[in-house]
Amino acid sequence: MEIRATTSPPESVPADTIVLGVFEGDQLDQPPLQALLDSGEAKRKPGSLALTHIDGRRFLIAGLGPRDAFDPELARVAAAGAAKKAIELGARALCWAVPAGADEQIVGALVEGTVLAGYRFDRYKTPEDDETETALDSLTVSDSKDHSATVSHAQVIAEAVNAARILQDTPANDMTPSDLAARANELAAENPNLIVKIEGRKEIVARGMGAFAAVAQGTAQEPALITLHYSAANASGPTLGFVGKAVTFDSGGISIKPSAAMDEMKFDMSGGAAVIEAVGAIARLALPVKLVAVIGATENMLSERAVKPGDIVRTMSGITVEINNTDAEGRLVLADCLAHAVNEGAERLVDLATLTGAIIVALGSTYAGLMSNDDAWATEVEAAAAATGELVWRMPLHAEYKKLVKGTYADLNNAPERGQAGAITAAEFLARFAAKTPWVHLDIAGTAWNLGRSYAEKGGSGFGVRLLVELASAHR
Ligand code: BES
Ligand code: MN
Ligand code: ZN
Repeated sequence: MEIRATTSPPESVPADTIVLGVFEGDQLDQPPLQALLDSGEAKRKPGSLALTHIDGRRFLIAGLGPRDAFDPELARVAAAGAAKKAIELGARALCWAVPAGADEQIVGALVEGTVLAGYRFDRYKTPEDDETETALDSLTVSDSKDHSATVSHAQVIAEAVNAARILQDTPANDMTPSDLAARANELAAENPNLIVKIEGRKEIVARGMGAFAAVAQGTAQEPALITLHYSAANASGPTLGFVGKAVTFDSGGISIKPSAAMDEMKFDMSGGAAVIEAVGAIARLALPVKLVAVIGATENMLSERAVKPGDIVRTMSGITVEINNTDAEGRLVLADCLAHAVNEGAERLVDLATLTGAIIVALGSTYAGLMSNDDAWATEVEAAAAATGELVWRMPLHAEYKKLVKGTYADLNNAPERGQAGAITAAEFLARFAAKTPWVHLDIAGTAWNLGRSYAEKGGSGFGVRLLVELASAHR
């Protein structure tokens, strides 16, 4: 989709559909539009959309609610609603009249909402004759102020989110660790400031990543340790370290999962997908940071070679782990990836992982869980999340939780007794591997798919891409 900003009024933009937002108390200066408001067909409350035609052009009146409550997330949602309606009506060229008083964040959110709402995953669907394929060809953002820089920044980010959603939605037979590695390679090939290294089973074992290797030993599918380095010439601030869990299919291993909804475990690579595409966007935007990203990609499968409950492994950090439950595989992969990120120069860690069912019980799909060993770094990540509308809620770490991950026969166990602070004990496990480096863990099991927001209703949500890019943008 082509996206541009213009300072010409919407009426002079070559668009087939114009969207006008109305706040509570707003009037519209064109009589046929005002008439719709007067009759009550068009409403000023959020979510409301009314349609009319003037001089062969389509007008959508989008309710925005009270002006002082309007924020980027409401703008994103309003833009998604308008885009979906426009697409349904066969629109090709959309123009948004920027609501009066809107700042750059709101303008960016209008672009994001439109691009995200246009996402379709139809690669495996045979087109039906009676269904004409519709998509928007262009979006023009019209305001008296020029928003070109904001608009192109937002486009890069939104397209990265959609790219992460493709990685997520693609089933595990076509999105193997090697496929993820290929995507990382593709992004690095586009950008000279982005260096990628892909290592396989042999190298993972040779590095002493005994926990990662244990998860990967049950599958014939080659695992991938993906390491990305990005550095801008004008970089400042401590080196960022992004770490993503990319279990391309989580069967649970020998501690096999029940079959209900097991298909959803193709999404267990969502953290890795978000990291890969966020790094791609950061490189495209040439943000002035130094960054190392580590993605641990493997299947978690059962076989005669698979790791068994009770097996003890040694991590690259030297810490030993009893694998009491092979379904608690994410923390095993991340343990070695966090240590690797620190070895590669990371000074501020953030990991993203669909780590526990327990976080879904605690926070549903509204908030991701945030756990951290460093208040200042946690505050930076919380600020980025607040800016992008990817909500996070901090949960505590505590010496009593830490006791629960102590092993009986080894230093740690990977699966404490069920039903007790499961999301937190997973974080306590990870904290050992972040060691003294400021670290934030984001448990995105509830937000990575079926988010239920109008711009990402079903399937992969790309959660975390915008947050990571914002974090890098704001980083000093
Ligand atoms: N990938 C799952 C977590 C998950 C479950 C994400 C459901 C999204 C939806 C993770 O590997 C897992 O299986 N975690 C276990 C840990 C337990 C065995 C300690 C869990 O949460 O049940
Ligand atoms: Mn699991
Ligand atoms: Zn998992």
